[in-house]
Amino acid sequence: MQIATTNAELRDITKMERIGAHSHIRGLGLDDRLEPRANAQGMVGQAKARKAAGMILKMVQEGRIAGRAMLFAGPPSTGKTAIAMGMAQTLGSDVPFTMIAASEVFSLSMSKTEALTQAFRRSIGVRIREETEIIEGEVVEIQIDRSLTGATKTGKLTIKTTDMETIYDLGTKMIDALSKEKVLAGDIITIDKTSGKVTKLGRSFARSRDYDAMGADTKFVQCPEGEIQKRKEIVHTVTLHEIDVINSRTQGFLALFAGDTGEIKPELRNQINTKVAEWREEGKAEIVPGVLFIDEVHMLDIECFSFLNRALENELAPLVIMASNRGMARIRGTRFRSPHGLPIDLLDRVLIVSTKPYTEEDVQQIIQIRCQEEDVTLAPDAQSVLTSMALQTTLRYALNLISCAQIIARKRKADKVEVEDLRRAYTYFMDEKRSVQWLKEQQGTLVFEEIGAGDEEEGDGGVGKGKAKGTEQSKVDGDEAMDY
Ligand SMILES: Nc1ncnc2c1ncn2[C@@H]1O[C@H](COP(=O)(O)OP(=O)(O)OP(=O)(O)O)[C@@H](O)[C@H]1O
Ligand SMILES: [Mg+2]
Repeated sequence: MQIATTNAELRDITKMERIGAHSHIRGLGLDDRLEPRANAQGMVGQAKARKAAGMILKMVQEGRIAGRAMLFAGPPSTGKTAIAMGMAQTLGSDVPFTMIAASEVFSLSMSKTEALTQAFRRSIGVRIREETEIIEGEVVEIQIDRSLTGATKTGKLTIKTTDMETIYDLGTKMIDALSKEKVLAGDIITIDKTSGKVTKLGRSFARSRDYDAMGADTKFVQCPEGEIQKRKEIVHTVTLHEIDVINSRTQGFLALFAGDTGEIKPELRNQINTKVAEWREEGKAEIVPGVLFIDEVHMLDIECFSFLNRALENELAPLVIMASNRGMARIRGTRFRSPHGLPIDLLDRVLIVSTKPYTEEDVQQIIQIRCQEEDVTLAPDAQSVLTSMALQTTLRYALNLISCAQIIARKRKADKVEVEDLRRAYTYFMDEKRSVQWLKEQQGTLVFEEIGAGDEEEGDGGVGKGKAKGTEQSKVDGDEAMDY
């Protein structure tokens, strides 16, 4: 069977960035000896956990370990998710990093184990070496003839190296590719013969006096020597999941964009595994074990946990990182309680790293970093007020107030946020403690406040179905989330 690993159209996706909760995190902020710097790459404090994360990353980068798991455990807003984001940034661009929230596994379109399998395979890269034929040279002339209606185009491309010159006939597709890259005479280009992809390497030195065809950032390169047609080795990394989807006949590669991949047949996966193993033996491919991060892992249920136990022992397993803010909690789908809501046999296989609440100094620095990220100027005394608010309420609440206070400051046409603006924001938005207090004061006026006596008795944990799900959720959140 022929197994495809690329699709030219997969590459042209651009990303848009907004300021998110973790957009200030640019890495783990470690030095070469993996010692955490006090304040670097957007990371502050939490030294032990960052160092532990760095050590694990080192192992991943050396590609030596597979099938290990670690767990970040600690109270809410102590940087578990932030550290995982930092790890993702530190990994090279071709090491896959997949991030899921445990509740994503419970979807209607596929089974829990299929969802987990896909997440696992998304986190395993295959680095493939291939020889392709390319055309490389300096464009001498492009000539395009349009038919009268404009529907079809034909043309000729003259291309040269220092040693030879050749004329190629162009079809509509090639003409479109060339005009998309804005290729002009005097550009040095390569054309991949199998995919037809055109890449512009720069402008020829010989043309450096042609000012009209240049921008400020024009790159000049030498006209290539030798043959126009060459064989070139290219290396590209795809994930096992991408190979699965591209080769699954019912889905096709378009499903990769829609994210709606449905279930993939086990036979196909087996075929792909065999093929990849063959490639490895022939030296054509290497496995790049990546990282799978499962946030809020206590939301998985017992079936998922036992799947994880088994999947971690597979040869093609990534490094699995989990995070949980639960203390002793009920394992979803059972009547048993266990640390972090994870069964003991799984806990036994993971390295546990705990994150601790931040000191005042750390909080102050995190606030400063966030202000820079959100482009907000805080007056010095507003900064200390916000820090003490963070210590009394939560770090997240304080971080959320920054942008609210800025809007209030802007309304009075000030460009600095003062204590007064923070105070107003504080009165507009409640933190969790005040909200609970308010609920108590409002007793009886809100709908559905109490869980009745009858609801307290649960079934044996029918996870994911109607009523059972609702009651289970409220019970766990209600009396067990606060264990820390
Ligand atoms: N060490 C840190 N340096 C800089 N920013 C941090 C640090 N730790 C946390 N933050 C920021 O504080 C906020 C809360 O942290 P985060 O979301 O990582 O908490 P968490 O431990 O995942 O909490 P939860 O258990 O509620 O999911 C985020 O905006 C995060 O980017
Ligand atoms: Mg989190």
